Amino acid sequence: MPIEKVGVVGCGLMGSGIAQVAAQAGCQVIVREVSQQLVDKGLQSIEKNLGRLVEKGTLSAADRDQIRGRLRGTTSLEDFKDRDLVLEAIIEQLPAKKELYGALDKICPPATIFASNTSSISITEMAVVTKRPERFFGMHFFNPVPVMKLVEVIRTIASDPKVFDEMVAFGAKLGKTVVRTTDRTGFIVNRLLVPYLLDAVRALEEGVASIEDIDNSMKLGCGHPMGPLTLLDFVGLDTTHYIANIMFDEFKEKRFASPPLLKRMVLAGWNGRKSGRGFYDYADPAKPKPMQLS
Ligand code: CAA
Repeated sequence: MPIEKVGVVGCGLMGSGIAQVAAQAGCQVIVREVSQQLVDKGLQSIEKNLGRLVEKGTLSAADRDQIRGRLRGTTSLEDFKDRDLVLEAIIEQLPAKKELYGALDKICPPATIFASNTSSISITEMAVVTKRPERFFGMHFFNPVPVMKLVEVIRTIASDPKVFDEMVAFGAKLGKTVVRTTDRTGFIVNRLLVPYLLDAVRALEEGVASIEDIDNSMKLGCGHPMGPLTLLDFVGLDTTHYIANIMFDEFKEKRFASPPLLKRMVLAGWNGRKSGRGFYDYADPAKPKPMQLS
């Protein structure tokens, strides 16, 4: 059965992007947040994105209206009782995720597939709190979700291979290139990306070069859309530090160890673009200025 009715839990940066691409792909989407204020905020951000596409002429106003019609917000998990798939994109905290999956498992029929957008938490550890570990997957999107063309689909040792294929087909339906991977912390992208980002911080700490020169090196020397320190600010220093700690815990390898400077910046609340400061100062978001960090 193709996946048509989708529930998205969490309407923050990732959840709203996921809800948007699912509605754009023709799915009936319900997105849930803990308060009406957060539902409204998430839906407004989708509305803004769709509006930008209409302005650019890549989406007609009529198509935008149809997408809107396929999308609705809720504060109640009970609304997910008829969903083919529930995708979760809430805070990266295992106890919160376990509690959510425990509740969803009671509300949703046994056929509903569950998938987490986690970037670092073990899929197996969440799957085992439900009675459907064979229908439980990781589906890891990238920020900004409507723009980034990749999705990682993650199976566990308990996954049903046929349902895994359905998830892969669903990823393709969303217009993404799907890569299949297994339940190892960091999957493919973060396993390669996180040590690279941490190394850029180490290079800065060791005085190899300035913030701008490190960023320009990878942008102009390797054709990356953003330098590593700009990307860290974009992803969030707190998020990267958190993922690195989980990966270090899993693999006990130095390349995943969060450098002291990163830890200090997170302690200071300099979490990147979202907090106004990170490796750059975003007082004028159009013209970020490198911070003085030594
Ligand atoms: N939502 C929707 N669309 C967006 C957007 C957003 N938040 N931000 C940018 N866009 C769109 C723009 O509208 C524009 O569209 P058109 O080409 O149709 O005009 C396009 O993206 C390019 O945007 P800009 O011209 O404003 O800026 P840019 O060329 O610098 O691109 C970027 C912005 C797409 C973010 C680009 O810099 C990029 O690809 N950066 C790297 C992002 C990345 O690596 N993401 C993965 C992070 S890791 C992760 O997410 C996983 C994890 O677990 C940590």
